[in-house]
Amino acid sequence: MDIVLGLQWGDEGKGKFIDLISEDYHMTARFNGGANAGHSIERNGKRITLKSLPSGIFMKGVQNVIGTGTVLDPVSLRKEILHLKQFDETIDPENSLMISKKAHLVLPTHRLLDCFMEDNPDYTTIGTTRNGIAQAYSNKILRQNLRVGDIDSPDFSNKVEQILERDYRLLAGGDMVLPSLEKISSEFFEAIDFLKKFTRTETELVLNTALSEGKKILAEGSQAAMLDIDHGTYPYVTSSSTTAAGACVGLGVSPKKVGEIFGIAKAYCTRVGNGMFPTEIFDSLSEEIRQKGNEFGSNTGRPRRIGWLDLPALRYAIMITGVTQVILTKADVLSGMESVAVCTHYELEDGNMARTSGTLPDNARPVLKQMKGWEGDITAIQGSSNLPEELKAFLSFLNDELGVPITYLSTGPGRDEILKLNSK
Ligand code: GDP
Ligand code: IMO
Ligand code: MG
Repeated sequence: MDIVLGLQWGDEGKGKFIDLISEDYHMTARFNGGANAGHSIERNGKRITLKSLPSGIFMKGVQNVIGTGTVLDPVSLRKEILHLKQFDETIDPENSLMISKKAHLVLPTHRLLDCFMEDNPDYTTIGTTRNGIAQAYSNKILRQNLRVGDIDSPDFSNKVEQILERDYRLLAGGDMVLPSLEKISSEFFEAIDFLKKFTRTETELVLNTALSEGKKILAEGSQAAMLDIDHGTYPYVTSSSTTAAGACVGLGVSPKKVGEIFGIAKAYCTRVGNGMFPTEIFDSLSEEIRQKGNEFGSNTGRPRRIGWLDLPALRYAIMITGVTQVILTKADVLSGMESVAVCTHYELEDGNMARTSGTLPDNARPVLKQMKGWEGDITAIQGSSNLPEELKAFLSFLNDELGVPITYLSTGPGRDEILKLNSK
């Protein structure tokens, strides 16, 4: 099993890369997160964003798995699939998608409680995607949640009604304008009926059987290393394990079965939501990069915060994920800049220099190295030898600094806009 995961704060371009390589695999499998993800894929010049579905969904012959470690919102999934069928009528999720019976359900009140907490000064505002992700995962840990496999049980409706009513009593204590309980409940049960069209199974068995038959599986990470619940910039993180180890936990596949681990990173950094971001830039340059790179959340539309490439954070992410190859994206966005900065170290309050960051202390001062920028439209370049010399120098510097080869350079959002590098 190979794994694709994000190395920064999400939106590194995982969807594009997975779509591209998924033709080499028999299955793609989501192992964490839920509708908080937004993985963009380009098809025939049009862009679509996947939230809960694996990014191999467009590839004919590839089986797609929503794994046990995910949290599934049936209402959101129904909308996503209906939208996808309008986008491409040839996709056939009824036959190419299977969902773990052990994946946890996101209930409508989880979303409302997410909004309630985000807007209530008694709680830390995380800047979540408001999809009820933390609420579903926390109920899972409390052992109070319902799972996909429960939808066939005769008392499922009663249990859901009970939970919705209980949550509404809690929500009534706030000043949120709530939709009627009848409305959210009927929308939810309509989505549950829809969900019943799809295969629900013990995906651990399916995946491990496939591996024992020599089939190739690609595990698809959502979010990214720096948003990991344990190792990320807590509390400004998501609620799941985003690392390679998280792929094994989320899919029920042994670490012994893992082969390549592809880590995706942008040539700069972005972040949506709150939390520490030492290399963040605020001047007009950040707006320029935001516009050029279309740095607006694929999921929520929020403007993404922009910063320079942060090597201490990237080294840390590489360390905790064990990536074997780095895929660098969005170098085209920096094209045309006279100089490009990279943070090589943090200078700590006591004067010491940190090469690898864990906790990203608020008061760490990023030490920036200025590198000569590159010119021109690199999206059309064929063959890595034709890249501008300054960009080659940038890549070679990163290769030395990271200790893991950069094997692909993505040069634009399009499916073909990617170059294989000779570093491995
Ligand atoms: P994901 O969450 O990691 O799948 O990333 P998103 O899809 O949320 O965000 C990445 C955005 O950058 C999408 O709009 C992609 O189409 C786009 N993208 C991916 N790679 C590149 C690249 O190399 N250059 C440019 N300009 N855009 C890219
Ligand atoms: P993909 O898979 C970028 C961020 C949110 C917030 C924090 C917690 O597209 O890279 P949550 O809704 O998970 O409780 O929010 O995590 N976040 C993401 N940021 N890309 C994502 O997914 C994200 N998923 C969650 O903005 O800061
Ligand atoms: Mg995204």
